[in-house]
Amino acid sequence: MPHLPTTERLLLGPGPSPVSAHVLAALTASSRSHLDPDMMAILDAMRGQLGRIFRVQPTATTLAISGTGTSGLEAVVANLAEPGRRALVVVSGYFGDRIAQILARYGCEVTRLDVEWGRAVDPEAVRRALRARRADLVAVVHAETSTGVRNPVADLGPMVREQDALLVVDAVTSLGAMPLEMDEWGIDACFSCSQKGLGAPSGLSPVAFSERALGRRVPCRSFYFDLGLLEDYWVRRKYHHTISAPLVYALAAALEEVETEGLPARWQRHEHTHLTLVDRLAAQGLSLFPAPADRLWSLNTVRVPEGVDEARVRRRLLEDYAIEIGAGLGPLAGRIWRVGLMGSGSTVANVDRLMAALSAVLGSAS
Ligand SMILES: Cc1ncc(COP(=O)(O)O)c(C=O)c1O
Repeated sequence: MPHLPTTERLLLGPGPSPVSAHVLAALTASSRSHLDPDMMAILDAMRGQLGRIFRVQPTATTLAISGTGTSGLEAVVANLAEPGRRALVVVSGYFGDRIAQILARYGCEVTRLDVEWGRAVDPEAVRRALRARRADLVAVVHAETSTGVRNPVADLGPMVREQDALLVVDAVTSLGAMPLEMDEWGIDACFSCSQKGLGAPSGLSPVAFSERALGRRVPCRSFYFDLGLLEDYWVRRKYHHTISAPLVYALAAALEEVETEGLPARWQRHEHTHLTLVDRLAAQGLSLFPAPADRLWSLNTVRVPEGVDEARVRRRLLEDYAIEIGAGLGPLAGRIWRVGLMGSGSTVANVDRLMAALSAVLGSAS
């Protein structure tokens, strides 16, 4: 056997989130090949599960790309973007910038709407940008993991529709953890990941294309991400690639957990855990980076107190308490910690465990 980890780690970083015992057990179910009737039955059920969790009509196409969240992003872009198409991208952090980069790689004429890191986009700024320059596609990150900020996607839907553009949304850190309403909010294409709010290991990326988006597909230059070929596999049982059976089993089990708990109850659990963390932090004189109304429930960005060596705190949490939290990215490096409370990891018990460890580490740091 290779030298695999044997000790537990509490994953409270920006993802992956902890995997429950139920999901972990699914990983070791008996193997099936990618075209086995048992596998196809699981994938059929998964398309339905994903449609209900994205909250989109059955006329939409829902499936999971083999790859991490970035593969879902690239699949959406590869099927909706081509040279000459104009895209307006809200860039309010690291992952908005990634969308802009990938759209540009596919030849889109990209206009960036840069927003200060730590703030949500003002819908009026989007309206003005759309009036100044028409767009075929508007892209935004719903839950910006680099800043801990939620963008007001619901407010953007109507103005994007008014312009007859498509609304593309990154729901990597929101699906399964925070309210997301694809149809109601007017989202045309949405992608997420398996390893955060849904609580499976990384490696599959749920995507959803509305009927409107399906009608505006471009000839796809990517073979791997070609939605037509992916539908040939998922729907018409034709070989395209060898999907990973253990990852499919784990995602199916995770989606079952989401539906058993129920989305509203799951969202409420994430909100409650987040608010508990906010209270406990305040009791220790610590505060969150974004304004209260803009905060994510899944990913908390905590200001590093003056004079504290943030990397040392993270290292001690990991080495002495087996707890992982994340560092700040880009301009927020050194200024914030990123604490993920997602999927099965979103519990008050985990908040208690983190706060006990953090107060011990900070107490000995001063
Ligand atoms: C908002 C957001 N978008 C995209 C990604 C990329 O996902 P992945 O690392 O699974 O490729 C991440 C990863 O954390 C993310 O937080």
